[in-house]
Amino acid sequence: MKVELTVNGQPRVADLEPRVTLLDCLRDHLDLKGTRAGCEHGVCGACTVLVDGVAVRSCLMLAVQSDGLDIRTIEGIAPTPGELDVVQDAFCETHGLQCGYCTAGMIAAAHGLLRHNIDPTEEDVREAISGNICRCTGYGQIIEAVLLAAERLRGRNLRPGETPVTEAAE
Ligand code: FES
Ligand code: FES
Repeated sequence: MKVELTVNGQPRVADLEPRVTLLDCLRDHLDLKGTRAGCEHGVCGACTVLVDGVAVRSCLMLAVQSDGLDIRTIEGIAPTPGELDVVQDAFCETHGLQCGYCTAGMIAAAHGLLRHNIDPTEEDVREAISGNICRCTGYGQIIEAVLLAAERLRGRNLRPGETPVTEAAE
């Protein structure tokens, strides 16, 4: 089946069997390996991506279900190559990653939260990442990172992925 997606702002087409998951479509057919395969049955959250701005476990979604939808993976979260977005930057600053295996999924989960709530409580952050396992158990620093990113976004009156009007015009 032909599946047409928008991935990281670019139109992409994949010819797939109906059984192929969105995770395998991204990694094996579109060569976007930043999205991690962990348990592959919906438990660990390593495969989390944004689907129309909502954090979704891509191993639980068939690629054909995402036909026509907007997908954002970790490769499309940084504003430009070599630059970090506010959430990624906060993860670095608070040491919110160790081996990094969970990080792409954690950052997608954080974006899913911050896109509709830039003033989350610690409880909101815990809830947002509750489906994501960090096998290095760095949860304290991850929560700190999401709260720091939220504070910075509030300071700039932005949501994740938005560009200040002055910068956009430059
Ligand atoms: Fe999808 Fe674990 S790989 S939830
Ligand atoms: Fe290693 Fe989270 S940083 S799994």
